[in-house]
Amino acid sequence: MTLWQGRLGDGTDDSLLAYTASLPFDMRLAPYDVYASKVHVRGLARGGIISQADEATLVAALDRVGAELASQAFTFEDGDEDVHTAIERRLTEIAGDTGAKVHTARSRNDQVATDLRLYARSELCRIVELVVALEEVLEDRALSAGDAYMPGYTHLQRAQPVLVAHHLLAHGWALSRDVARLFDCLERTGVSPLGAGALGGSSLPVDPGWSAVEMGFSGVFENSMDAVSDRDFVAEALFALALLGVHLSRLGEEIVLWTSGEFGFATLDDRYATGSSMLPQKKNADVAELARGKAGRLIGHLAGFLATLKGLPLAYNRDLQEDKEPLFDAVDQTKRGLRAIAGLVATMEIDVEAMAVAASDSGATAVDLAEWLVSRGVPFRRAHSEVGSLVRKAAGEGRSLQEVVGADAGFGQEEEALLDAGASVRRRVTAGGGGVDAVAVQLGRYRELVEADRVRVGELVCSLPVKGW
Ligand code: ARG
Repeated sequence: MTLWQGRLGDGTDDSLLAYTASLPFDMRLAPYDVYASKVHVRGLARGGIISQADEATLVAALDRVGAELASQAFTFEDGDEDVHTAIERRLTEIAGDTGAKVHTARSRNDQVATDLRLYARSELCRIVELVVALEEVLEDRALSAGDAYMPGYTHLQRAQPVLVAHHLLAHGWALSRDVARLFDCLERTGVSPLGAGALGGSSLPVDPGWSAVEMGFSGVFENSMDAVSDRDFVAEALFALALLGVHLSRLGEEIVLWTSGEFGFATLDDRYATGSSMLPQKKNADVAELARGKAGRLIGHLAGFLATLKGLPLAYNRDLQEDKEPLFDAVDQTKRGLRAIAGLVATMEIDVEAMAVAASDSGATAVDLAEWLVSRGVPFRRAHSEVGSLVRKAAGEGRSLQEVVGADAGFGQEEEALLDAGASVRRRVTAGGGGVDAVAVQLGRYRELVEADRVRVGELVCSLPVKGW
């Protein structure tokens, strides 16, 4: 039986259903659909549209359908086009004519938008929790790295020594922006579309403002056509997850490099490494590589969905059903990725000795000598050129810059000493820079921010009306 048999008869071709059905993937909206339907039913009673006895019957029947769905005792039928249809069908089986009242003053258009917003709120809250957990891992690693230093790179060439903590926290700050973006996205997701009907509201007195508050939404739609066709919250979530995915990808790439034999800066814990089916010696960083690889898929979801939205006339069009799979997949991939990467980063062994050796090589402290000359009154461009000539000389003679400076009559022990990488990170004074004092301040600020994020996430998760099954 279709929902529209009064108008079209019941002769829907199988190929139509096979193509248009969303049940195989929108099943995960079931807990939200049951929840929002119960609120809707209470709203109908509140408006005097159904009796209190009907309200009680419908709420009890919805609870029963919910229990059947949660325990997987629910039997789907061939004609169940989507989760909303399946739930209404079962409700009517249980409650007869009373069940047939549930869809009063409601369309699947406002219903699906409501369900998806409830789902998105719940999942984005979980994701933001996981991002904060990764922020914490980076905080711990930065704390325990102390004053250890490593080469900082530009163009993947050693550029200047920086504290290991500085490098790790650079990834942490990127995640902090992801957290802020997810909170921001949650704000616009928290607007209820229930009561918008198919597109223009209803002649029956349901109260969208009331149901919005009941469901813990912070706002309610202003325009019913916008309410049923607005999927900005999906696009924004996909963007927030794509950019988060890009950040995880960059962190992943760093770990791939660090754990390579060529760098030798870190070793993965065996629990987070994979072997090779043929090469016995291999220990691969597949989690880090997939963090890199899956970013492509997340970007694809965003680009694909924006293309779906582009050019859609108001209000609801079936194209909008295409909002679900990219969102669901982005949510799944992000949650799995965050958990695995947090474990990977928390457990990898960082070889600060190898990092220090690499930082002491290749004249990565050349700019310190140039800046020392500046402090002696030499214009920077001339200092740069003089030190540059020394670097060229060192490279030509196969010696280190420090050796060349040590042998140069124009310089003394003081200059030779400041080319030491450890001295370099202690001399660095700029706020926000990679030197010892600045990083101590930065770490303090970062810890405050993570603490604030933690508190905010806790409040958010507690405010969820329905958390899914
Ligand atoms: N399964 C549909 C979706 O996901 C539900 C809304 C159907 N509305 C309609 N007018 N056909 O968007």
